[in-house]
Amino acid sequence: MTTTDSASSRPVYDAMARRASRSKVTDEAPSHEELGELVSVMSSVPDHSRLRPWRIIELRGKDRETLGKALAKANKTPKEKGISKATRAPLVLAVVVSPKQSKKVPYWEQETVAAGVAHFLSLLLAEAGWGTMWRTGHATRSKAVRKAMKLDKDEQLLGWIYVGGVPEHKRKHKPRKPLDLDQHLTSL
Ligand SMILES: Cc1cc2nc3c(=O)[nH]c(=O)nc-3n(C[C@H](O)[C@H](O)[C@H](O)COP(=O)(O)O)c2cc1C
Repeated sequence: MTTTDSASSRPVYDAMARRASRSKVTDEAPSHEELGELVSVMSSVPDHSRLRPWRIIELRGKDRETLGKALAKANKTPKEKGISKATRAPLVLAVVVSPKQSKKVPYWEQETVAAGVAHFLSLLLAEAGWGTMWRTGHATRSKAVRKAMKLDKDEQLLGWIYVGGVPEHKRKHKPRKPLDLDQHLTSL
């Protein structure tokens, strides 16, 4: 690979360069089958000992209200406020670290695998034309939210990827401020 390769021969590079979070999305959402196809390729996310220490909870319809009520309870805000937050997108994906017993792989490594899944999945959804935004907040690891998401004892949430359609007027790509490579690609 050289720097003279044209961008069009690098679909992953292009998808990454164009990816952007979408805070406002439409009511359209990928189907369960479409989502399943994307989640299937998460088997290739780098994963020490291939523990697959993660799962994604698919929240649609009323399940988002269950999340909203728990957010409201944890944040001590009115129920409606929580529900309006959790229903900002037609599909909400809870990203869960499901740690596995391992003498070799500590928890923090397993958490990075789940984070990798969230990033790769967001990228694939964006490439497929869907709008995504990863959200967390103070309530993410609260008791009320844990209970609403039916987490097992050892599981932890990494937040939610909100997914929906990209509004017509938001489809234009806005180039980003370039990175300062002297700061982000360093030597010893
Ligand atoms: C773990 C994680 C949690 C985040 N939580 C929030 C959040 O609660 N609220 C928010 O506005 N942005 C949150 N963000 C940032 C947005 O997802 C998004 O990255 C940011 O708005 C910048 O947009 P961009 O992805 O197009 O650069 C979070 C990002 C990550 C990785």
